[in-house]
Amino acid sequence: MRDEMLDPASIPDPDEIALEAGLRPQRLDDFVGQAELREHLSIILEAARRRSQAVDHVLFAGPPGLGKTTLAGIVAAEMGVELHITSGPALERAGDLAAILTKLGEGDVLFIDEIHRLSRAVEEILYPAMEDFQIDIVVGKGPAASSIRLPLPSFTLVAATTRTGLITGPLRDRFGLVARLDYYQVDELEQIVLRAADIMGLSLEADGAVEIARRSRGTPRIANRLLRRVRDYAEVRADGRITAEIAAAGLAVFGVDEVGLDKVDRAVLSALCEQFAGGPVGLSTLAISVGEQPETVEDVYEPFLITQGMLVRTPRGRVAMPAAYQHLGLPLPARADALFD
Ligand SMILES: Nc1ncnc2c1ncn2[C@@H]1O[C@H](COP(=O)(O)OP(=O)(O)OP(=O)(O)O)[C@@H](O)[C@H]1O
Ligand SMILES: [Mg+2]
Repeated sequence: MRDEMLDPASIPDPDEIALEAGLRPQRLDDFVGQAELREHLSIILEAARRRSQAVDHVLFAGPPGLGKTTLAGIVAAEMGVELHITSGPALERAGDLAAILTKLGEGDVLFIDEIHRLSRAVEEILYPAMEDFQIDIVVGKGPAASSIRLPLPSFTLVAATTRTGLITGPLRDRFGLVARLDYYQVDELEQIVLRAADIMGLSLEADGAVEIARRSRGTPRIANRLLRRVRDYAEVRADGRITAEIAAAGLAVFGVDEVGLDKVDRAVLSALCEQFAGGPVGLSTLAISVGEQPETVEDVYEPFLITQGMLVRTPRGRVAMPAAYQHLGLPLPARADALFD
């Protein structure tokens, strides 16, 4: 079952939201990693500033916890404008979006999280808003209905999605920059936890930071979470200083293994290797067997396992790769050769 503490998909509690907010870099210069994205962003921000115009609309795509919401805040802060936050599921009716759009100030940033969950009706309103900074509102019903056109201030739409595949072509094409966030390198995560430890006033040694960074599944949110668990362990079981040994011991206690896989990751792999004889097995069958939603397995767990070369998606279903058997300490099945060709 899901481990609330370590699971990147779990809904954070209010304390955690406050902590995350405190650790969020406010400026592009404090944002670690994603070098190419950062460069693209700094160019379009600077260009917009010089022209005194709103920044072009930006779409950030990538797995949870890699910094999409953080970047939306950075765009607003760098431009010195107000940030308005909403999300795809929160915008049920066209009127919900119209109400938000008409409250925007000149140049403001509107952040729509999970934009892939926007309804068609709301998406239709968004098109002219993005393109021409105007919306058509229908007043009245039936034959007497008429539509009025409302001008909007020029604003910047910053949108985030964990699923680029679910975004319609017309919507995607209306963004001036579509930026994909990749998993972070260990040295980048190291800088992120060192910075977080500094903000939290912890004594984190360099090799302790490496130990946490190595096991963070390439994800800053997980790195920060693991840091907090290790801090707890260090305070309770040691003198509070986070050394490599303390970090390793603390992470072992919380079920995070050598490469950073947690209980659910390992459950996915062992279901695949043992219960389904290496696959191919359908996503929903696999998800049920580990007690998770198919979307969670697909968005949160699989992408990292794929980057680790442990799992592949094929048209017939999910298949375990030799690295999965190795990681679980299982012998390779006899039919492996045929499967992996
Ligand atoms: N590049 C970075 N440098 C430093 N800290 C980062 C970076 N990216 C993310 N973080 C930290 O990770 C946490 C999670 O980031 P954020 O909330 O922006 O992720 P997200 O991509 O919006 O995730 P989700 O898809 O779940 O909404 C933030 O609190 C922030 O402190
Ligand atoms: Mg977010």
